[in-house]
Amino acid sequence: MQLTSTHDTPQVGAPRNISTEKMPGHWLLARLGKRVLRPGGLELTTRLLDQLSVGQRDDVLELAPGLGVTARLTLQRQPQSYTAVEQDEGAAGRLAGSLGGAPVRCLCGNAERTGLASEAFSVVYGEAMLTMQTTQVKMRILTEACRLLRRGGRYGIHELCIVPDDAGGEMRREMQRALSLNIHVGVQPLVAAEWRNLLECAGFRVVWEGRAPMRLLEARRVVRDEGFFGALRFAFNVLRKPDARQRVIRMRRLFRKYRRHLEAIAFVCVKE
Ligand SMILES: C[S@@+](CC[C@H](N)C(=O)[O-])C[C@H]1O[C@@H](n2cnc3c(N)ncnc32)[C@H](O)[C@@H]1O
Repeated sequence: MQLTSTHDTPQVGAPRNISTEKMPGHWLLARLGKRVLRPGGLELTTRLLDQLSVGQRDDVLELAPGLGVTARLTLQRQPQSYTAVEQDEGAAGRLAGSLGGAPVRCLCGNAERTGLASEAFSVVYGEAMLTMQTTQVKMRILTEACRLLRRGGRYGIHELCIVPDDAGGEMRREMQRALSLNIHVGVQPLVAAEWRNLLECAGFRVVWEGRAPMRLLEARRVVRDEGFFGALRFAFNVLRKPDARQRVIRMRRLFRKYRRHLEAIAFVCVKE
């Protein structure tokens, strides 16, 4: 479904009547004013875009753009065209309204089966959208990304990674369970070797790997990602909504508890 500009600002994610307690964590943060929802922050995103070297000849597809922070960075590089496929209708409509105009298209759809033509793009990327899927769905999205890319095209991801590579199964299961229960979406990060393996099985050759600490809710990172006034707005919203504040505190506590076992990881691959 192609969306056109919307004049009101639709609520992104989750039905309006869902309680703060049950809302998926990323949409809760978005409603509190947080715009950057990926684990390695803008710093790892910028490195990823540099490695993807998006330029004026590129036809770019972004999967799951969310609030469109990376979309704007990509558009500064003036690609030939930019297409986004976002599952959340509110977010897709909002993005269509704020980016607007050819050569930009914002579609509401599923990254597993976009309905777009094969080999239509020279660059495809998605951030913080694979970790929340099961292994089977991760694989279906990677296969779809590969189908959509031209030979020699570049694919980038920015996700959560478990460290060290040989992290024990019991700790992994406990961490996954705790994060999923708390964030209200399935959280299934992989170790680096597993991410590589999935990418290779889908038909990609990995050419770059980048890492960053997972500090999504730490004050310094929030200021770096949202800017001084954005961080202030977020803090103000958190303070004035006690039920949301409790959830943000719980999420941050969990991220801190597992900080030695969670990192942000990014890859750039080429379709052979
Ligand atoms: C954690 S947010 C990340 C948003 C944005 N990429 C960012 O990093 O700020 C996850 C996003 O993935 C979208 N999403 C999840 N599964 C999807 C799918 N199968 N197809 C398209 N979008 C999806 C959600 O609607 C949401 O916008």
